[in-house]
Amino acid sequence: MKISSCFLVRFFLLLSVFFTPSVAVDGFTGTYGINYGRIADNIPSPDKVVTLLRAAKIRNVRIYDANHSVLNAFSGTGLELVVGLPNGNLQDMSTNPNDALTWVQENVQAFLPKTKIRGIAIGNEVLGGSDQSLSEALLGAAKNIYNATKSLKLDDVVQITTAHSQAVFNNSYPPSSCVFRENVVQYMNPLLDFFSQIGSPFCLNAYPFLAYMSDPTEIDINYALFQANQGIYDNKTDLHYDNMLDAQIDAAYAALEDAGFKKMEVIVTETGWASHGDPKEEAATVSNARTYNYNLRKRLALRKGTPMRPKNMLRAYVFALFNEDSKPGPASERNFGLFLPNGSVAYNIGFSGLKSSSATSSFLSLKDIQHQGSPNSYFLVLTACAIVLLSLNS
Ligand SMILES: *[C@@H]1O[C@H](CO)[C@@H](O)[C@H](O)[C@H]1NC(C)=O
Ligand SMILES: *[C@@H]1O[C@H](CO)[C@@H](O)[C@H](O)[C@H]1NC(C)=O
Ligand SMILES: *[C@@H]1O[C@H](CO)[C@@H](O)[C@H](O)[C@H]1NC(C)=O
Ligand SMILES: *[C@@H]1O[C@H](CO)[C@@H](O)[C@H](O)[C@H]1NC(C)=O
Ligand SMILES: *[C@@H]1O[C@H](CO)[C@@H](O)[C@H](O)[C@H]1NC(C)=O
Repeated sequence: MKISSCFLVRFFLLLSVFFTPSVAVDGFTGTYGINYGRIADNIPSPDKVVTLLRAAKIRNVRIYDANHSVLNAFSGTGLELVVGLPNGNLQDMSTNPNDALTWVQENVQAFLPKTKIRGIAIGNEVLGGSDQSLSEALLGAAKNIYNATKSLKLDDVVQITTAHSQAVFNNSYPPSSCVFRENVVQYMNPLLDFFSQIGSPFCLNAYPFLAYMSDPTEIDINYALFQANQGIYDNKTDLHYDNMLDAQIDAAYAALEDAGFKKMEVIVTETGWASHGDPKEEAATVSNARTYNYNLRKRLALRKGTPMRPKNMLRAYVFALFNEDSKPGPASERNFGLFLPNGSVAYNIGFSGLKSSSATSSFLSLKDIQHQGSPNSYFLVLTACAIVLLSLNS
């Protein structure tokens, strides 16, 4: 008796050593999310934004900081939020673990659980950028923020990630031959190592809009807009791509595999199409933006993977909720919004805006959203969306 119970104890100890569940916190619980960029002086207040998001039935939201007015407005709504640690904080967070702890206490822990903060994005588009000191600080900041969540016992609630632009890739054709740029590898590899240990995905900001504009004579715009076209053939993998977003994601998978991280999942943290631009940004039209965003919704509602990773259901946060009139750069930068400042839709892709008559009927009650916790009920909602979208199309 004594021996066998001892054996059992050892057996279970062994089990717990070998089967400790890897930290499987998931910052993105749906397939269609949205970026709530706020560099604007004319957008609605955060509580109106909550009403708008609920009317549009968009549950997963990213912001680029941890603004407390936003965190308070999202409290008790069931909406799920990824907050951002701005690039300007990376240096400090990487050198001062105590500052990282304080940041997490004040900007995350203080709002949980009523505000469903699901993730912290450490910086944005750091690697491949021009500021080398930021690249050097990124991993340290990610580790210190992760350690802070761990010591506050939030590491199974809040996922740590960082979003990459396409500047991290040495872009090559076809998708399967994509690798990371030589000057990024030294930062990327240790970062991927850390993220694979804590079970975090690779977050990609993917813009067929930008790729198309860089080479409009060679690229068929229908390929970039998910419209009927010949597509491209990858002769290394024997895979066919009928849209550019899938190809961009598989290029990221190829680079990850080349770096030794074949199992890491890619999620899209930004994608979108500008509805207006400078005279030379000819592709930035309302019609193209509507086509891209409408077809993107249909693509995501299919809940399918990409040709290279058919089992990894594609998930993406659209960029963005509103036009951001205070952003610098080309005019397109200020014109990615799906909604106007007054809450109306910028163009119709099947969402209801505020105050339109259909908004009331499709309005999700607080209770509905809170009861959408299980993947299944969310699946039903998405399936319903898919049916609506498909019937709109016919
Ligand atoms: C947070 O957002 C609110 C509402 O948009 C704004 O008034 C406030 O200035 C922001 N706070 C910070 C610190 O940026
Ligand atoms: C994180 O915490 C662990 C143990 O709690 C410690 O060993 C490690 O050095 C810490 N990492 C950083 C970057 O502070
Ligand atoms: C991209 O790849 C090519 C071919 O391997 C190589 O010659 C070039 O230096 C790489 N460029 C960068 C920026 O990594
Ligand atoms: C794929 O096509 C390229 C030219 O487009 C060619 O150089 C290469 O040899 C082909 N690779 C295979 C495996 O067929
Ligand atoms: C919002 O603004 C747009 C453009 O100015 C206008 O066409 C639309 O009617 C407005 N919607 C509401 C609900 O006021």
